[in-house]
Amino acid sequence: MSDIKLNTIILAGGKGTRMKSDLPKVLHKVYDRCIINYVFDSCKEAGSNEIYVIVGHKAEQIINHMKDTDAIFCIQDKQLGTGHAALQAEKYINDDDYILIVNGDMPLIKSYTIKSFISFMSLGNYDGALVSAVFDKTPAYGRVIRDSHGNLSKIIEQKDCNEDELAVEEVNIGLYCFKGKYLKNAFSKLDNNNAQKEYYITDIPYHIIQEGGKIGVYMIQDASETQGINSRADLSVATKTLLEDTRNLHMESGVTLIDPENTYISIDAKIGKDTVIYPGTNIQGDTIIGEHCVIGPNSNIIASTIGNNVVIETSKVDHSKIGDNCSIGPFANIRPKTKVDNSCKIGRFVETKNTIIGENSNLPHHIYVGDTQIGKNVEIACGVITANMNIKYEKNTTVIKDNAFIGCNSTLVAPVTIGEKAIVAAGSVVTENVSDKGLAIARSRQTNKENYNN
Ligand code: UD1
Ligand code: CA
Repeated sequence: MSDIKLNTIILAGGKGTRMKSDLPKVLHKVYDRCIINYVFDSCKEAGSNEIYVIVGHKAEQIINHMKDTDAIFCIQDKQLGTGHAALQAEKYINDDDYILIVNGDMPLIKSYTIKSFISFMSLGNYDGALVSAVFDKTPAYGRVIRDSHGNLSKIIEQKDCNEDELAVEEVNIGLYCFKGKYLKNAFSKLDNNNAQKEYYITDIPYHIIQEGGKIGVYMIQDASETQGINSRADLSVATKTLLEDTRNLHMESGVTLIDPENTYISIDAKIGKDTVIYPGTNIQGDTIIGEHCVIGPNSNIIASTIGNNVVIETSKVDHSKIGDNCSIGPFANIRPKTKVDNSCKIGRFVETKNTIIGENSNLPHHIYVGDTQIGKNVEIACGVITANMNIKYEKNTTVIKDNAFIGCNSTLVAPVTIGEKAIVAAGSVVTENVSDKGLAIARSRQTNKENYNN
């Protein structure tokens, strides 16, 4: 297989009418990732060199969404069908290349399935091949019609089927591979004489056979992987399948899920062994969680890195990093760009944003710290806030150095620095720097009026 050059065309130009949505179909999410990204990554992992994405309906949204990938976009101005969509990449097709063509609405397709399909095509020395499946309940897909020898004769769309053809259970799932030369030749033979008046990619195998080419049909065992997304109901089924598969992988690798069906984990996440996850927890994006952690219940961890032996209870951690042996929550909101070093406590109703917290520091309750650098062994008592924004809406930095102590209900007005081992008395509004080992008391003296309330 090593001498094969494989390029891919992903069909993503359609209107997705059945989704009833403002969003192009392939930008709908299966859990935390868009449909098109699953398909794109699987094709890439399967060894595809170049990937041409055919876009049409709301093309700019898809192009913008994929701007960080090396996808090559081809515009399909009018949605005249899947065959017409693939044709838009014709100029890139070389005679000797293998051209994989994939429906862009098939998010669960796995890279190893694509790989074995390509091997099947090359070992069988086919000029083209397609993947078929049999579902428990036959979906409204194109039927795979075979001749008396069991070879493919054609694919017929459900809308074009007669009664006998409708009874066929083997369906086309929308994954094809063709030798470049045969594909280009067959493009010129496509017509739209069918129920939908569209140019169908599904007619390509038929034309190749007519020209004496050899087409293989690769029947896949696990049909669930090949499900296309045409409706919101399909999307929910795919999401369920994906989440279940991902949960099983984590449990197999030593993660305890107290209530798997109520635990949601991205396929991009990694979780260490002996971590226990309580229900209502979402772990999204490329989150990494260490070993022996306890996460949840009802926590959202988004694209974050969590160390070992960390407890996160009923909290949100978003695009942040938490070190080892930390305790977060309940009800903490760790906003983006927070970096918490080892052995810290971020407790009840604490919100952090763009803040570094040094080792062994303690922020136990009702605190807001934003744009702040906190050193080691710092104690921040209840009710402290860093006032990081001035009246011009500019953000400023607060620095709190090692071993400092900030008393209850203090406001640190940035930019300001609290020195090492410095103390801020409770109830202070600190607007000037405090030197190392110093004490700042920034509040008016108490006045007591004797016999005031007679
Ligand atoms: C298609 C197949 C059908 C197969 C099914 C599997 C055709 C004619 N039919 O039907 O045999 O059983 O997939 O799920 O191919 N697209 C474009 N431009 C267009 C039309 C569609 O880029 O003009 C894209 C869509 O965005 C989509 C993909 O092609 O990602 C498939 O199109 P869709 O309309 O969903 O085809 P199905 O009716 O599902
Ligand atoms: Ca479809």
